[in-house]
Amino acid sequence: MEHLISLKEWSPEKIREVLDLAKDVKANPAKYQDAMARKTLLMIFEKPSLRTRLSFEAGMTQMGGHAIYYHTGNSPMGSGKETISDSIQTASRFVDVIMARLFKHTDLLEMAKYATVPVINALTDDSHPCQILADLQAIEEKKGKLAGLKLAYLGDGFNNVTHSLMFGGTKMGMHVSVGSPAGADYSPRADVVADCEQFSAASGGSVFVTDDPVEAIKDADVVYTDSWMSYHIPKDQEEARVAKFMPYQVNSALMKHAKPDAVFMNCLPAIRGCEQTAEVIDGPQSIVFDEAENRLHAQKAVILKLCGAV
Ligand code: CP
Ligand code: NVA
Repeated sequence: MEHLISLKEWSPEKIREVLDLAKDVKANPAKYQDAMARKTLLMIFEKPSLRTRLSFEAGMTQMGGHAIYYHTGNSPMGSGKETISDSIQTASRFVDVIMARLFKHTDLLEMAKYATVPVINALTDDSHPCQILADLQAIEEKKGKLAGLKLAYLGDGFNNVTHSLMFGGTKMGMHVSVGSPAGADYSPRADVVADCEQFSAASGGSVFVTDDPVEAIKDADVVYTDSWMSYHIPKDQEEARVAKFMPYQVNSALMKHAKPDAVFMNCLPAIRGCEQTAEVIDGPQSIVFDEAENRLHAQKAVILKLCGAV
């Protein structure tokens, strides 16, 4: 049984296969319109979502299948009346594939352990692999390649999207540079950096972490940022975090240090005036809605691959 838990476990060849399939799914959607006929996706959510829920649900509909939205707030699993193991073993008898957006990554691992159908990580506090597959697809569309490009991430380095970008980017031969405040609460996890150094050695990419935003973004082909207030961050930390991350805000002055043809990305949701300014996210270099659209195509490809439908 194959799952998508994190890009750390996926080989560059596997990522390449899914990106190539996502490209075909996007170009020729009718080819896949019956590929999931009468199949059901269970979508388990502990956190809010716009893009993830809509793209998975629309994707299943477009491939002839059905998706069930299931919020754990209204569930025996969420209320502590039932173990993850019992819930997932039961759900596996009804559905063909499960995706989950959870707080604890260990809960996702528990789901994968007991599921008898594929499990897809739709975001945990630890990682967001579906997002990064869509991002890589968007970068390749705009730049014609991945290997050799410099991708600069600015802001919250101790972050699910950051960690997944580091895995995905270095596996595909990119030079991933992270500009974030120093300290374990703000910069990428040491074990992720160490893993990415190994992936880079195999792919010809590199990984670099600095607390200097200008050094991080210098000559970048791709500039990426994410929310300073991820879904799991308590509201009472907002003021302190905004002050901490403000030097890493992607604004026009900082963008000038990237290459003139650099693209700007944010997985969304975005706050104008926080992780980037309006002139950047709404400006000509921004590809955020192409990036968002690719969630649909990349996730269709993931579902098709994991379900053995292609
Ligand atoms: N980028 C992303 O996962 O968005 P949602 O939180 O809206 O699903
Ligand atoms: N880092 C963000 C990503 C949102 C899609 C979060 O976890 O909320």
